[in-house]
Amino acid sequence: MKEQGEKIAMLTAYDYTTAKIIDAAEIDMILVGDSAANVMAGQETTLPITLDHIIYHTQCVCRGVSRAFVVADMPFGSYQISPEDALKNAIRIMKETPAQAIKLEGGSTMVDTIQKITNAGIPVMGHLGLTPQSIHQLGSYALIAKEQDEASILLEEAKMLEKAGCFSLIVEKIPSQLGQTISEQVSIPVVGIGAGNGCDGQVLVFHDMIGLNPEFKPKFVKRYADLYSQISSGVSQYIQEVKDASFPSDKESY
Ligand code: KIV
Repeated sequence: MKEQGEKIAMLTAYDYTTAKIIDAAEIDMILVGDSAANVMAGQETTLPITLDHIIYHTQCVCRGVSRAFVVADMPFGSYQISPEDALKNAIRIMKETPAQAIKLEGGSTMVDTIQKITNAGIPVMGHLGLTPQSIHQLGSYALIAKEQDEASILLEEAKMLEKAGCFSLIVEKIPSQLGQTISEQVSIPVVGIGAGNGCDGQVLVFHDMIGLNPEFKPKFVKRYADLYSQISSGVSQYIQEVKDASFPSDKESY
């Protein structure tokens, strides 16, 4: 798709029903993201999600998918200890789910790990820029690589990840110009989130783009629907109709 100049559309999913809808709508790629920790489990950060949780969510998603390419996120702690430990955990994902690839966060420090996993025949998607699993080290979710020297390091890291064997990269919350430069200077597809229009594709968290999470309003999220309001008014109407005994009517009764 990159070679043909066709942009790649990617969304997160964590459950069967959502995966079925977005797969039928012809999404190209689905990420079973560790953002499940936030939007599914209500955690403050992505750190608490476990490998067992990701495997469970990936199994649920894959049951709803017949055409999209599914990537499972490696959770915090499942790949940082050693390349051997990372490979063992990546193999668990590939054995226990039908996902086609795994994703992990980090740059130069992840090169050996990426080589180890790709050498075993497992496709790896890299993740650079804002890497939420390092939130306590970063200190905030602010824009990454605003300065020229930081941008140059990030570009070099993207090249390193390509050389290490990544089939694709996510770049998160970086200036648009840098997103474009990285996309132009590596041959693998670069999928952006808050990284501008020059990337080879875009990814968003499903719950954000569908308006299920109205209090979360970063600049890079566009709302394509307002499901929070629709669900809320449907539930209010249901409550009202149960209370006034207009539901169930004869139509819904045997
Ligand atoms: O877990 C996730 O949803 C992600 C995206 C933000 C890229 O990593």
